[in-house]
Amino acid sequence: MKLLFIGDIVGQVGLEYLEKHLPNLKNQYNPDFIVANGENLAENDFGAGLTKQAAERLHHLGVQAITGGNHSWDGSEGSTVHDLEYVLRPLNRGKNWAGRGGLILEQNNLKLGVINIVGRSAIPDVDTPFLAIENQLEAWQDKNLDGILIDFHGESVFEKISIAYAFTGKISALLGTHTHVPTLDTRILEGGVAYVSDVGMTGPSGGAQGYDPASFVQRFCTQGYVKQPMKLATGAVELGAVLVEIVGSRATGIQRINPEHP
Ligand SMILES: [Fe+2]
Ligand SMILES: [Fe+2]
Repeated sequence: MKLLFIGDIVGQVGLEYLEKHLPNLKNQYNPDFIVANGENLAENDFGAGLTKQAAERLHHLGVQAITGGNHSWDGSEGSTVHDLEYVLRPLNRGKNWAGRGGLILEQNNLKLGVINIVGRSAIPDVDTPFLAIENQLEAWQDKNLDGILIDFHGESVFEKISIAYAFTGKISALLGTHTHVPTLDTRILEGGVAYVSDVGMTGPSGGAQGYDPASFVQRFCTQGYVKQPMKLATGAVELGAVLVEIVGSRATGIQRINPEHP
């Protein structure tokens, strides 16, 4: 099984980049499954969230599941985007929040379980990631899955790697999202778990995490901070994506992909 995972897509330019390049990437890598994090697709004052239109455009491109994070409920359409069955939000956010945290994708006679988790380093008051994952895996015990992917949306590398090691032999991949910064540590952990601390964003370079740095500078350097509308950065769009190979539910490879340098 080949799985293509795309990190936090930022804004319309990130979406348009995928509309241009994803067909070629599909031809080049021939993935069985494509999953993408879409928590920053909406362009609003928060610079975050997901709209139905953006989700549908991504799905039309062949993205079978769209994961989220701390911004899963920030889109201008509120929670209605979670009516779409292929949209996920963090499993451990609690039942009072709209949406679902896990789903099973089926393609080419293969079944992939996808779990979306948010770390306590990103939202401190969520349920413990460890127990949420354990409960989901138990619920899927009789599903004969060919692979299990976790999009772990968090700030802390320690939190991500600890959870990955906690589930060696039980999951196929734990891929980090949220910081928008691609890390170099793609590797296979013992027990066949593909791991990377952060896949990185698919969005405009040249700023702070895909955005004009002004509002971040104001937030972190100014007393009496007043939130101001977020604007996108204006550099060329960069791709944060990894390709994971899974055999017999255990990962055998993980690599970063780049359309300019295949
Ligand atoms: Fe996030
Ligand atoms: Fe994000």
